[in-house]
Amino acid sequence: MGHHHRLRLILVPCFLAAILIISPFSIGVKEETLKIICSQTKNEEICVKILNKDSRTLSATLLELSLLSINLTRNQATRNFKNFQKLRDNSNTTPTLKNSYDRCLNLYTLMFQKISEAYDLSQKGKYKEITQLGEAQDLAYRCENGIPSKSSSTAAISQTMIITCEASASVNLYITHTFP
Ligand SMILES: *[C@@H]1O[C@H](CO)[C@@H](O)[C@H](O)[C@H]1NC(C)=O
Repeated sequence: MGHHHRLRLILVPCFLAAILIISPFSIGVKEETLKIICSQTKNEEICVKILNKDSRTLSATLLELSLLSINLTRNQATRNFKNFQKLRDNSNTTPTLKNSYDRCLNLYTLMFQKISEAYDLSQKGKYKEITQLGEAQDLAYRCENGIPSKSSSTAAISQTMIITCEASASVNLYITHTFP
């Protein structure tokens, strides 16, 4: 067997391996991948919808998707924060509920910090260190759980917040599993 032959035997598998390793970085995320990512969440269908809220999702690479999904989490938190502010400031809101909404505003302020930390870590490629999205999810739970359930008009937006946190956490988990 000549040198050339042996070289080819070595190079071809290397080349194929390189494609397999590199492609999740360089090729756009597929619907199929979104489904795999979202199958790890409580609601696959809503999770896929949430991640598709950014029109760039399906043309993004997996690493870009991480940043996009964290921004989607921030956007949802911003919407919810404004909602809780409005409810708190509404003159029909009872003092008890006002307290609950104030507590939510504090918890969401903490969430914004968590989300920013997660974004920084994603930018630095430190996917394994991203625990803040799960923590943000807990904060969203704590907010909703502190509102007397009979009078809660925020169950739906809290649910969306929780699933959005879960979706972005799941994107990062998928990245750490794909590139251990
Ligand atoms: C995420 O949001 C920040 C702040 O609004 C923005 O500067 C950044 O470009 C966004 N990133 C992506 C990937 O859209």
